[in-house]
Formats: sequence, C-alpha cells, structure tokens
Amino acid sequence: MIEQGILLRIENVTKIFRIGGRITGSKLVAVSNANIEMEGSKPEIFALAGESGSGKTTLARMILGLIEPSSGRIIFKGRDINTLKNRKDKLWFKREVQPIFQNPFEAFNPLKKVESYLFETAKNLLLLKTKDEVLENISQAVKAVGMSLEEIKDRYPSEFSGGQLQRLSIARALVAKPSLLIADEPVSMVDASLRMSILNLFRNLNKDHGVSIIYITHDLATAYYVSDRIAIMFRGVIVELGPVDEVLSKPYHPYTQLLLESIPKPDPDRKWERRIKLSDMEVKEYSLVGCKFVTRCPYAKEICKKKEPPFVHVEKGRSVKCFLYSNGTIKISEEV
Ligand SMILES: Nc1ncnc2c1ncn2[C@@H]1O[C@H](COP(=O)(O)OP(=O)(O)OP(=O)(O)O)[C@@H](O)[C@H]1O
Ligand code: SF4
Ligand SMILES: [Mg+2]
Repeated sequence: MIEQGILLRIENVTKIFRIGGRITGSKLVAVSNANIEMEGSKPEIFALAGESGSGKTTLARMILGLIEPSSGRIIFKGRDINTLKNRKDKLWFKREVQPIFQNPFEAFNPLKKVESYLFETAKNLLLLKTKDEVLENISQAVKAVGMSLEEIKDRYPSEFSGGQLQRLSIARALVAKPSLLIADEPVSMVDASLRMSILNLFRNLNKDHGVSIIYITHDLATAYYVSDRIAIMFRGVIVELGPVDEVLSKPYHPYTQLLLESIPKPDPDRKWERRIKLSDMEVKEYSLVGCKFVTRCPYAKEICKKKEPPFVHVEKGRSVKCFLYSNGTIKISEEV
C-alpha cells in the first residue's frame, strides 16, 4: 500500500557486521533498531549526528540501498527499497535518492572533464536522448548550485577549489532531480571559509527546490545551523530525536546532555569536534543488552544494565530512548 505523504520510513532497522573469522570472530551491531520518518509534503533537512563509529554512515548506506539491513525495512515513497529488483525500479530509486560524499576530490576522476560527469548522469539516469535536452538539464542543475555551464566548460577537477568541486558534486546529484539527498559529512573536507556557503546551498535547495536532505555530521554546530530536526546516535542507537533547536537547547538524553556540555551554545563559526576512537573493550560493549550509555551515565540504575530502554515520545515531535522518561511525560519514571 502506498503511504501518502511519507517520503522515507526507516522501520526498526538493524545492521550487524561479523568481525574476524567465523569461529573466533564476533558480531558488531553497527545500527540497532533505528526508526525515522520523513514526510514528503514538508521537505526538511534532517541531521544524523553522533561521534565516530556511532553508525551514521552504515545507516546512510542502507538508505541508499548500498547494503541491506540485517532486519527491519526501509520504505521510500511507499516501496520497500530492498524489494526493488527490476532495472526500471532500480533506476527510479537511483534518481530519487542521491548521495553527496565527504571528499569531493574522490567523487571526480582527475583525468575526466567535470562536465562529462554531468552529461553521463543525465543520459544514464534520466535516459535523455538529445543533446539539447541534456544541456538544458545540466544547465539547470549547475545554476541551482550557483555556477554556470560556461564556468565549467572544458575544465578538469584539479582546476577547481574543494568548495567549487563540492558544489559540482551536488549539481551532479541534482541532475537526476532527486527527492532526497544523503549528504555524509559533506563539509568536513571543505575549507572552513567555504563551509557556510555549502550549508547555505543545502538550505536553498531545501526551501526553494523542495529537496529533502539527510545531513550526516559529527558536528552539532553545523547540524544546528542547517537542519530542522536531528537524531542523535550513540553506538548504533538513536538515543534522541526531535526539532534541532529544542534538542540542542533542552536535551533530554543524558548522552546528549553530556555532548552539549562541551559547547555552551551551538555556534556554526566555532569548530566543535568530538571524534572518539572506541577501544576494543568498548566495541565489545556494543552488543551488550541494556542501555549502551550505561557505563558513562551519571543516572544509571540496575534496570539500565539489564533491559534495553524503550524509545518513548515525551512531547510533540520529541522522542528519547532512556528509562528516565515515560510515554507522554518528561517526569522521571519511578521504576528507575
Ligand atoms: N563493512 C564493515 N564491516 C565491519 N564493521 C563495519 C563495517 N562498516 C562499518 N563497521 C563498523 O560499524 C560501526 C559504525 O561505523 P560507521 O562507519 O557507520 O560509523 P560513523 O558514525 O559513520 O563514523 P564516522 O563518524 O567515523 O564516519 C563502527 O564500529 C565500524 O567499525
Ligand atoms: S537508560 Fe539508564 S543508563 Fe541509559 S541513559 Fe537512561 S538513565 Fe542513563
Ligand atoms: Mg561515517
């Protein structure tokens, strides 16, 4: 059944990787029971934020259909993306959901003229036949990122700055006229002085062109600047979700509270990084039952070690995965 109005529904999605050999190896739960819903009628920028290794890219790759969930479903415009088998359906999905990668220099072959990528995308994904149709299409895409066809004509990737190249990789994605962009750390390798202009471009694409965007970052300041809603991930688990201004000004989850202690007020001009390499011990803890934050949480109780906390709706649009909260109330529940 087609669900009217829902663009993307991530439904109890889990991804388990096996590390090492079959006998001596272990399992790593990279994403655990993720649930996100984005409406098509209200295109938004949704930030997926969390420290290194929290599962952001793994979730992004599942949404792009590059890897399959171990369990759960990803429904895009009413269709389970892992059931799309024929060429026509796969092509449709490829047009609708486009990736933007972290390193714009890796997105282009240094020996190929930049415009040839745009031509190929228009021909392969939109199946355009005439040169005029292709030119019209790529001209619109390049214009949408603030550049022109004349500027890029006959030029190679090395002739552009990182910021320009990231704009062009966004233009390449726009050629397909997607409904959803998945941008995985799109500004972390762009010069700091150009970062804001790329973030502003995402805002324009969202507001003026109606493109929904999943913005993946470890940087809460840029998430605050650019997005409408945010999900905070910790060790594969979405621990908190809600409107970005509310979550970052009044965080409920003890982990989000801890993160925000390091930045008094999110400020996009201030670089805020929290990249933690997990120790082997911590990686093993991934698969433990109970709350993943239990070893660091100042409020941890016995139940937190034994049971996985529920993901509860505490108020309109806000959810948190913690025993401190009960459905429909933000009061600390008595059993904890
Ligand atoms: N193909 C894979 N095989 C085994 N483990 C993997 C694989 N891909 C990711 N992982 C593990 O899954 C966990 C989540 O990784 P992921 O790349 O999704 O995190 P991330 O939030 O994107 O981190 P970063 O901010 O560093 O990009 C990590 O522990 C990672 O080592
Ligand atoms: S469930 Fe328990 S350990 Fe986890 S964040 Fe909440 S209070 Fe802390
Ligand atoms: Mg990543």
